[in-house]
Amino acid sequence: MNRLVIVSNRIPDPDERVLPAGGLAIGLTDVLRDEPSSLWFGWSGNQEDRDKEQTVHQNVCGKTVYATLDLSAKHRKGYYQRFCNAIIWPLFHYRLGLMDYHRADWESYVDVNQLFARKLLPLLRQNDTIWIHDYHLFLLGHELRKLNVTAPIGFFLHIPFPPWSLFRALPHGEDILRHLSACDIIGLQTEEDAANMNECFRRFGFPQRAAAFPIGIDPKRFAREAQEATQGDEYARLKVSLQGRPLIIGADRLDYSKGLQERLTGYEKLLTRFPEHRGRVTYLQVTPISRKEVEEYRLLRRQLDEQIGRINGMFAQFDWTPVRYLTQTVPRHILAGFYRLADVGLVTPLRDGMNLVAKEFIAAQDPERPGALVLSTLAGAAPELPEAILINPHDPDDIAEALHLAINMSSSEKKQRWQSLNSAVQASTAGNWSRTFLTELRTAHAKNTEDSAAAGQDYDS
Ligand code: G6P
Repeated sequence: MNRLVIVSNRIPDPDERVLPAGGLAIGLTDVLRDEPSSLWFGWSGNQEDRDKEQTVHQNVCGKTVYATLDLSAKHRKGYYQRFCNAIIWPLFHYRLGLMDYHRADWESYVDVNQLFARKLLPLLRQNDTIWIHDYHLFLLGHELRKLNVTAPIGFFLHIPFPPWSLFRALPHGEDILRHLSACDIIGLQTEEDAANMNECFRRFGFPQRAAAFPIGIDPKRFAREAQEATQGDEYARLKVSLQGRPLIIGADRLDYSKGLQERLTGYEKLLTRFPEHRGRVTYLQVTPISRKEVEEYRLLRRQLDEQIGRINGMFAQFDWTPVRYLTQTVPRHILAGFYRLADVGLVTPLRDGMNLVAKEFIAAQDPERPGALVLSTLAGAAPELPEAILINPHDPDDIAEALHLAINMSSSEKKQRWQSLNSAVQASTAGNWSRTFLTELRTAHAKNTEDSAAAGQDYDS
């Protein structure tokens, strides 16, 4: 039987109902429900005390085996905190100024990719299809080929890919793309990202194997969860607290790519320029803390605390708070109900691979009384959702006007827009996404194997 092997740095804890934040875990969890048999391999999130090679722990949950390894303190820092999240992440989100490169971090990144390959190898079987995810594991496909793995290997990047003019600033960029070329096919979220990567491949003379496969959610399931959530205590409590007044909702990991400060400045503008919303509208922002060991994230958290404190201090009335701000994680099935209750979904990334919150917000709506979506044109989801109220997150007036428009929008216009947004969300599901990718992967693998044989090359090298 064919088995799907997923490899990613972060994997869900099968024992917990709460998924780790981020589109990768959400999209893949939706995919695995349809797979007859699968293995999901990744980092446990834990740190091994001693700097020694770790054993792999396996945990069977339904049709999926979750296999995890711990990382040493040295690797957690050099590979995860630094190379992945202080070098690749900022650069790939077009924030070259935040990139903080040190050669030792690259060495740690290489080490961990090699460690993943060594630890995964004994778990592999004949007829496996391997699907590697995200920027933590750019080198893994090549490391597996070096260990004579001949299975189809696909790679999917969940974050944006920068244009050549930025990518060329990354030390070892050429090495990264050379390693990535060992994969049969590379998927990205948008046409723009795929074109950027292919251009970089071209500059270095590597085969151009990138193509766009926009990720989706399981919209039917999410809609059901949202509807069920309306029976829950949290939904009722939020509803009562609003007293029939409009609700704006935002839900994002605490990350500078999400445009949280820009969004708050836009909301402040709304209250300044359109004072009729004071004392009425409520903005609920759910922002689980993320990557708190990375300096830039600690700084952002302090800045958000200060900005929200200032807005609330300036506008609050004794019985009304303009911004409700939560940094704890809200389980997805409860959040689904909050989306359904909200009049406006506010999604303002400065750059985002896709942004599944935008799709979840649409799926969660009550078809008879849908809310409006305000969406950044710089989210990967924007080309698929043109009926959203599109904004430039760098322009606070644009955000304020969009919010004003959304709050005042007639229910017939909201319905009309929602119907077309919902068709788009229903059309590009997580299931379609993975099926299309895996079909393309197997075709590409057959072709690459044939081409290598014709050229008299060893496919593994
Ligand atoms: C983004 C990335 C994922 C990552 C998630 C959470 O969605 O694409 O790969 O898992 O953020 O970040 P973390 O660093 O906590 O894994």
